[in-house]
Amino acid sequence: MFEKIVVFFMTGTGNSYQVAAWFVEEAAALGVETQVQQIKVTKLSIEPNRRTLCVFTFPTHGFTAPWLLLKQILYLPRGKGTVAVVLPSRAGTRIKGISLPGMEGTAGYLTACLLFLKGYRVKGVIGVDMPSNWTAVHWGLSKENKEFIISAAEPKVRHFAKVILNGQVYFHGIAPLMLGLWLAPISVMYLILAQLILSKLFFASDKCIGCQQCANLCPKQAIVMVGSKRKRPYWTYSCDSCMACMNYCPYEAVEVSPIIGIMFYFIGTIPISTYILSHFVTLPLSWLPINWDGIIQYIYILISVFLAYLLLHTALGWRFFCIIFSKLTHTRYFRRYHAPNVSVKNLNQPSEYHR
Ligand SMILES: Cc1cc2nc3c(=O)[nH]c(=O)nc-3n(C[C@H](O)[C@H](O)[C@H](O)COP(=O)(O)O)c2cc1C
Ligand code: SF4
Ligand code: SF4
Repeated sequence: MFEKIVVFFMTGTGNSYQVAAWFVEEAAALGVETQVQQIKVTKLSIEPNRRTLCVFTFPTHGFTAPWLLLKQILYLPRGKGTVAVVLPSRAGTRIKGISLPGMEGTAGYLTACLLFLKGYRVKGVIGVDMPSNWTAVHWGLSKENKEFIISAAEPKVRHFAKVILNGQVYFHGIAPLMLGLWLAPISVMYLILAQLILSKLFFASDKCIGCQQCANLCPKQAIVMVGSKRKRPYWTYSCDSCMACMNYCPYEAVEVSPIIGIMFYFIGTIPISTYILSHFVTLPLSWLPINWDGIIQYIYILISVFLAYLLLHTALGWRFFCIIFSKLTHTRYFRRYHAPNVSVKNLNQPSEYHR
């Protein structure tokens, strides 16, 4: 039915890479030409064609799709009827033998909607429970739980692939969409603010040797190595919190500090906007339907968090302070996570390759 399949995957810790690999294997079994492209900052390459199938798989972040994915879809050429399917991976967990599904919110259907608006024929959307990778907030799942969740996901993805490759449609229920719409305000806050703050909670501990692997691996090119003698990673606002740097660092040197979070909370909640509006703004702006208070406070938060992080990063260059600060993080004691069969080598391929 399809002459060519292009699988686009965005991944932090390999889950979505694994989902892509299962799909590719099913396509290869049918002898269809398959191309794989990793979603990074470079533009995706695609020749829209009614005999081509595009597969999009990526992690769920903040109950929606990550910025990087949304942006890349907006930059895609017009679909001209190209068929597309969407498989967001989400946080599956298992507690005391009980499996809990993740919540992809609008991740699947928002992406499908954008693809539709760009002229793609969306034939399937399905959320895939893979082991949760948010190791900034919880320790990595045990080997047993990881294997259990992955072994449940594999047949689901393979079945989905078979149905789609057979020319049929496959949409999982309306419930995730309803839940996603209900959670949409949280997703908006996540995309415009929380994600930026999360990027500034990362720092390199005293275990960091400056090997630069984190910077090379980052799909957003969000890490800058700074320092003349001993180079250390510095996290910029471009970070999408995909967790690749944290979970693939060979020295487990990437940490997230709750102390930084508390510091940002106190800095960010100083009501600067109220002060500015009452003391300096004389223009009658209230007739405009714009939340000036919110906009000023938002700008203030971004600037103050940026400066506070810059100061902290400089202070962390002092080794003694770095050792103490690193020992005070919760993540130092957390197990890391990445998909069992996905190595750094898998994620460092040229962004486009054939199978
Ligand atoms: C910052 C962040 C936010 C996340 N938000 C969600 C979420 O809202 N719902 C969910 O089900 N999973 C969430 N997850 C979990 C990931 O989507 C899930 O583990 C995914 O399989 C990771 O895929 P990857 O390894 O390809 O990056 C989140 C993970 C991170 C790091
Ligand atoms: S944080 Fe890890 S990966 Fe990054 S430079 Fe340091 S040791 Fe290397
Ligand atoms: S800085 Fe780390 S968490 Fe952020 S996008 Fe890059 S690899 Fe992912």
